[in-house]
Amino acid sequence: MNSIKKSYIETFGCQMNERDSEIMGLLLSDSDYLPTEDIKQADVIVINTCSIREKAEQKVYSLLGRLKKLKGKKPSLIISVTGCVAQQEGKKLQARMPLVDIVLGPQQIYRLPELINKVSVKGAAQLAVGLSPTFEIPKYAPPSPAETVTEEEHKDSPEPAFKRFVTIMQGCNNFCTYCVVPYTRGRETSRAPEDIMAEITALADQGVKEVTLLGQNVNSYGRGHDGSLKYITFPELLRKVSGINGIERLRFTTSHPKDLSTELIDCFAEIDNLCPHFHLPVQSGSNRILKRMNRKYSIEDYLAKVEALRQVRPDIALTTDIIVGFPGETEDDFMATMDLLEKVRFQGAYSFKYSDRPQTKAVSFDSKLDDQVKSERLSILQSRQNIISLEENRKYENSVQTIMVEGESKNGDGQWSGRSMSNIIVNFAGSVLVPGQSVNVRITEGLLHSLRGALA
Ligand code: SAH
Ligand code: SF4
Ligand code: F3S
Repeated sequence: MNSIKKSYIETFGCQMNERDSEIMGLLLSDSDYLPTEDIKQADVIVINTCSIREKAEQKVYSLLGRLKKLKGKKPSLIISVTGCVAQQEGKKLQARMPLVDIVLGPQQIYRLPELINKVSVKGAAQLAVGLSPTFEIPKYAPPSPAETVTEEEHKDSPEPAFKRFVTIMQGCNNFCTYCVVPYTRGRETSRAPEDIMAEITALADQGVKEVTLLGQNVNSYGRGHDGSLKYITFPELLRKVSGINGIERLRFTTSHPKDLSTELIDCFAEIDNLCPHFHLPVQSGSNRILKRMNRKYSIEDYLAKVEALRQVRPDIALTTDIIVGFPGETEDDFMATMDLLEKVRFQGAYSFKYSDRPQTKAVSFDSKLDDQVKSERLSILQSRQNIISLEENRKYENSVQTIMVEGESKNGDGQWSGRSMSNIIVNFAGSVLVPGQSVNVRITEGLLHSLRGALA
């Protein structure tokens, strides 16, 4: 009798990686590996890795360290490392960690079943880290409803079944001097609009109500390998996708300020189901540092775009990414970033201490900062931003927000949890609700990372 084979996937990093893990999960199911939540039961373990900061990379090695015992007890276990660390390290990863059977770069994930098969047959380690400058994202048909929407899977999936990510482009050509992504994900590649439309139409037919269009730099969507416009522009794509029957909420991430056009800003006035949330990474408030980062915009450009967005959608929630302690960042540069927090008043900010990444230009920059200085600056910045976030969330008190229900709140207090159009988590009391259902909630309290309310 054939015993059932099981697979376990651990995902680090960004939403691109989450989507890649989803695809690998489906490929594994298609080759008869059922997903398990218990790593000990797995016959195949996939670690989908992130290399964006030093800390992210360290997590991978500590997880691999913990897997040694498991592999010792079960030699047939196949361990696969995929994603950005796999791409970056390649062969070196297998040399350092002999328990790794498969190393697979982000462009190669579709070959996972084939390589698992090779490992089982030949027993030899497999490596696939090709990064083609003319890579095309394969057409990927979502599975039919009968295969996905069982109660069991629904409960375990990281995102509720009514919400899906759709990759519209991969890679990045911007070469910010601190960033590893152009080296791990390769050149920017857009997907054909017909493929994107077909995928989202199929998702909508299965009951998906919210899609997030994904890419490292979605604002420059549509260009071919030579950099000229090959398909349609991002605003044109948004208009097309927004018309798909059943899509109630449309989001996208991430954006680069230099490519944020007037046409895109106008979309926020004209497209009803485009959610009023914009994640617009600024990185620094100092023009001198922005230049050293190769960001190609000034703080004045950034502020003008924020102003224009707020003109067309006064309720738009802005979030951002900030790096503190970039090489050469002076006290004045840091103060310019603090000043920016006051000028923009972001709903939220993800902030990080700069860390050197392999192959990037900033590695060779002088005037690196002490870790202690970076930590101090990070904590000053986060304390101030927390106050601003709380104040901004309190502004929602007494307003009525349309919330898409995600499920019962994790606290087990009988509360429900969902998200506002501007992507803020809202917890509220309610009776029998269904995930994906839209309800009106009156906000009673604004907290640091969420809102509390009651059904209106
Ligand atoms: N494509 C997005 C960002 C992707 S990476 C953009 O264009 O902004 C997510 C965030 O990680 C970045 O916005 C940046 O703030 C942070 N980051 C990237 N490289 C880093 C490094 N070497 N050290 C610290 N933070 C870094
Ligand atoms: Fe990295 Fe810059 Fe590309 Fe964003 S735009 S992925 S920060 S190189
Ligand atoms: Fe990390 Fe790669 Fe995404 S480095 S942030 S997983 S593109």
